[in-house]
Amino acid sequence: MERKTPLISAEDLRRQAEISDYIKSFWEGRGKTPLAYVETYGCQQNEADSEQLRGMLERCGYGLTDGPEDADVIVINTCAIREHAEQRVFGNVGALVHTKRRHPGQKIFVCGCMMGQPEVAERMKKSYVHVDGVFNPHHLWQFPELLYRVLIRHKKAAATENSDGAIAEGLPVVRTNRLKAWVSIMYGCNNFCTYCIVPYVRGRERSRLPEDILAECRELIAQGYKEITLLGQNVNSYGKDLGLGVDFADLLASIAELDGEFVLRFMTSHPRDASRKLFDVMAAHPKIARQFHLPFQSGNDRVLKAMNRHYDRAQYLSLIEYGRKVMPDIVFTSDVIVGFPGETAEEFEDTLTLIEQVRFDALFTFIFSPRPGTPAARMDDPTPKAEKNARFDRLVALQNRISEEKHRDYIGKTLRVLVDGVDGDQLTARTDGGRLVRMQGDKELIGKFISATITDATTWSLVAEIGA
Ligand code: SAH
Ligand code: SF4
Ligand code: F3S
Repeated sequence: MERKTPLISAEDLRRQAEISDYIKSFWEGRGKTPLAYVETYGCQQNEADSEQLRGMLERCGYGLTDGPEDADVIVINTCAIREHAEQRVFGNVGALVHTKRRHPGQKIFVCGCMMGQPEVAERMKKSYVHVDGVFNPHHLWQFPELLYRVLIRHKKAAATENSDGAIAEGLPVVRTNRLKAWVSIMYGCNNFCTYCIVPYVRGRERSRLPEDILAECRELIAQGYKEITLLGQNVNSYGKDLGLGVDFADLLASIAELDGEFVLRFMTSHPRDASRKLFDVMAAHPKIARQFHLPFQSGNDRVLKAMNRHYDRAQYLSLIEYGRKVMPDIVFTSDVIVGFPGETAEEFEDTLTLIEQVRFDALFTFIFSPRPGTPAARMDDPTPKAEKNARFDRLVALQNRISEEKHRDYIGKTLRVLVDGVDGDQLTARTDGGRLVRMQGDKELIGKFISATITDATTWSLVAEIGA
């Protein structure tokens, strides 16, 4: 099979690099190191994109700052997953009018998934006149060119055409954490869950080549990174577009076989394509974290069908069962939506019983938010908001009880944890399963895998003492 995904050509990337060098010399000519501020909304995919934006900004000569006030350029990387996320962005972009008034040379860009919706990008351009440039995720790699247009040519810039998408390899990157790295292995989504905006704003599924991913991971390990998280909206369909006979489980195994001390994570998996082979690969490779984020969205078969999820409750539960059979200590986490259009009180009960049955360690809970242009936004939705809120509260209370009970079960156990930072006078660490641990200890331990014995637990975290 021919590879379907176009790569951005080396020549196109070189041109962006040349423009970056030009912008850098422009600032050098002014005898000043300009500052850039990148604000990120949404998921890890957006965090990873922002690290590339910071990389491109650095290449253009910018230093990074952590607030909009003193920035010469501001980039707001947006999320469109729920209405609330969009409202926050509109509010915060609106407030930048005042920041810009105090700093007239300031340039403001808005990018990310919201800009992948043509009407939203139009609204941003028309109503927010202090915004200098907008671009969607397909045009991320062209940021230097857009910045040039705004900064040097004093024009507005827009790159919002949608496409199936391409892959840009080798963009510069500035990582925010020195221990934990995101590695995008694929982009886009083909699933078209009826509630979800992602396939519309991020294009079709397309995979990076295994050798490019392996090279990036090898370099990260050599640089001392201790945790690598592979990212994709639906990692289980990795490789389908490549036609190389390499699937996600194969990719994961080949990364887990790299030399060095590190922990390997991945997200997100879709139950439709999560394979038993994947669980077997996890069980066979100690460097792969015993953690699986497997969104179920609803426990009711009619609702799952209306969501276009392509699995039913029984299939979901059998995946969980298999995972636990081959890895008794695996930690499952999940996403769930409350109040999908037409969800009845009985159907919601099925979601609660699924949660009781699986007993997730943690759950990300969302109230359905209609996204213009998606099929679910056009479905009848007779359930009043107050009823949805009441269901949501019940679900959260149930999960909190389970999380607390599950955390209490850790007491007395000794686990390997990666010490990753400090919070107040305590060290923070993560278990293999991704649970947060707090303990007393020397800051020298940051970046090390150590043994910790759990002595206490809350709903959200574990308390430990160093050593067995
Ligand atoms: N690709 C991933 C994650 C997508 S977004 C996956 O398929 O699992 C993260 C979560 O946001 C989803 O799992 C879903 O629970 C939630 N979500 C997506 N669209 C939503 C909407 N319109 N309203 C409420 N929650 C939504
Ligand atoms: Fe959205 Fe479904 Fe794709 Fe996840 S799998 S990004 S929920 S369409
Ligand atoms: Fe949001 Fe886009 Fe991620 S819509 S959740 S930032 S893929």
